[in-house]
Amino acid sequence: MMRLDRFLAENGCGTRSEVKKSIRRREVTVNGETALKADMHIDEENDVICFLGEEIIYQKYVYLMFHKPAGCISATSGSAETVMDYIAEPYKDLFPCGRLDKDTEGLLLITNDGPLAHELLSPKKKTEKEYLVHFAEDLSEADIGRIENGITYQKTVYRPARITEVSGRTCHIILTEGKFHEIKLIFEALGNEVLYLKRLRMKNLELDENLAPGEYRYLTEKEISDLREGCC
Ligand code: URA
Repeated sequence: MMRLDRFLAENGCGTRSEVKKSIRRREVTVNGETALKADMHIDEENDVICFLGEEIIYQKYVYLMFHKPAGCISATSGSAETVMDYIAEPYKDLFPCGRLDKDTEGLLLITNDGPLAHELLSPKKKTEKEYLVHFAEDLSEADIGRIENGITYQKTVYRPARITEVSGRTCHIILTEGKFHEIKLIFEALGNEVLYLKRLRMKNLELDENLAPGEYRYLTEKEISDLREGCC
């Protein structure tokens, strides 16, 4: 059971004060009857709630694919611009699943599904994360071997990572953990330098090329079930 105004606000019908106004304007029905009170309790799983004549299907969780631009931080609040400043959805409790550095671009899942995020980020799950890297110096076979065997640098042990798609001074790198500045420090350990970094994939969720930096879209049902596979 939950309050009607909370149900409406959490399911994309507006802010809490906007949905209260909608209820006063008699725009909401519960099981066919006009709802008169914002604080009435409804059964979110079984009652039929309509807003402006359209049924609102209860969504416990929301999943957004965000193309993070450089320049914003992966946090929910702070003095600097955050990824959440780009998200106009009215849902409560959204947060970025994982962190990208301020200057890193690319795929970031924004959700309010705490249990799934926890599993995807758990080092035990070894969730793959694939990045495009541009670097300053040529990458030798020996460098690739070191990355693929696992590097220890500044007393931190980095798990073996996979290098693919090497072309000039760019490559893809696939990590199974998410240590602080991991890719930059792996390249620094080799005497190299990361010039540009973009996340392309997390598990089987690939960044949609139609999303420009700063844009987002809802995940499809298939993307959600693929992400959930083996989790929760
Ligand atoms: N590794 C980094 O160094 N930075 C990121 O943002 C992600 C992985």
